[in-house]
Amino acid sequence: MSQPLSAVPTRALAGTIRVPGDKSISHRALILGALATGRTRITGLLEAEDVLATAKAVVALGAQIRHVDGGVEVTGQGVGGLRAPMEDLDFGNSGTGSRLMLGVVAGHDMEARFTGDASLCRRPMARVLRPLQRMGLAIDDDARTTLPLTVRGTPDLVPIVYASPVASAQVKSAVLLAGLHAPGRTTVIEPLASRDHTERMLTHFGAEISVKDEDDGRRAVTVRGDAELGGTSIAIPGDPSSAAFAIAAGLICEGSDIVLDCVLMNPTRAGFIETVREMGGDVELLDLRLQGGEPAADLRVRAGALRGVDVPASRAPSMIDEYPVLAVLAAFADGETRLRGLAELRVKESDRLAATAAGLLACGVETSIEGDDLILVGKGSVPGGGVVETHMDHRIAMAFLTLGLGAEQPVAVDDVGMIATSFPAFVPLMTKLGAQFR
Ligand code: S3P
Repeated sequence: MSQPLSAVPTRALAGTIRVPGDKSISHRALILGALATGRTRITGLLEAEDVLATAKAVVALGAQIRHVDGGVEVTGQGVGGLRAPMEDLDFGNSGTGSRLMLGVVAGHDMEARFTGDASLCRRPMARVLRPLQRMGLAIDDDARTTLPLTVRGTPDLVPIVYASPVASAQVKSAVLLAGLHAPGRTTVIEPLASRDHTERMLTHFGAEISVKDEDDGRRAVTVRGDAELGGTSIAIPGDPSSAAFAIAAGLICEGSDIVLDCVLMNPTRAGFIETVREMGGDVELLDLRLQGGEPAADLRVRAGALRGVDVPASRAPSMIDEYPVLAVLAAFADGETRLRGLAELRVKESDRLAATAAGLLACGVETSIEGDDLILVGKGSVPGGGVVETHMDHRIAMAFLTLGLGAEQPVAVDDVGMIATSFPAFVPLMTKLGAQFR
């Protein structure tokens, strides 16, 4: 049953919150913990549905996970040491969990059936299957490119050099994780650098990784195979993609002054804050530090006037999940905003390009799509008053609830159930800052 919710125009958000742990790093901590020998201790793990689906999958493959004082402990089986699952691996809504785990299963002598919810079963899997098949993964039906899928891995994977046509951290990670099990070196070349958490964390677990940046923006990442990973400790900072909603609300709700504690500041995830600053947004970085091998900072956000912006396609990988909320923010700016090169948004949890444009139109914002660009005209304020269709997409739901907080009239979204996939505490944390929902 769908759960509709409305956000009510709110002034002057105030206070300090800590957004939950980064989703990308949380998936990887569980997966690498399962592939390591010995115990990995994780603090700050995001306990949301997407990550819990990955946790369930690694347990089905023979790793152990338990809550210990203030954190989670994973007992791994060593690279190549997982066992065939007795049940389907159901990844729910999670593209990251399913794609990364295809890379893991590829290197094991086992058969596994991968499945997920209606949204995940529509998403393209060929982007990971293609390179993994070259390495030796077999698929029950070669013609299938969506879940559900039954695959067979092999302990005799072949290392490859893979030039990926898309800048996708999921593709890169799936191939690198498979490469751990192959003899020799496996390289992924991406057209633009995508988030680098897998490389950073593999290094932290003891794998040998090398990275080469080309002048044209391409990045080559190489892992040495037949690797051994050792259990370790990981402290996960707050998710910048979740923080983006609170940042946007703090910028558009007049009189706001809020602080977000310990947000991940990895440069491959920094596109949103870079763009917000170009728009004139007041986001101050306090106490930039390293946490668990990743940069993190506290962010102070104050409301103020924003101007429209032209965002180049080359910035997309560093803010790919933030476009719906960035478009919302641009609706409150003065002047035209053009967000370029958003083809990848069409294959996220929903067609986010279409869903964002439709949501903006429903809220009275002049919006159009030209090719893969989203164009909108900000007038400093937004009428609101609309009902927005979320299409089973957590980020569409949170982006338009955020819009409602700053608009002239309340904004309703048709279903908030999916918010639990990435940010279950969204409503209570925003309420703590003074936001109102009904
Ligand atoms: C993610 C990579 C991105 C992003 C997703 C998380 C990851 O997807 O949209 O939410 O953790 O690797 P792509 O790899 O498809 O760009």
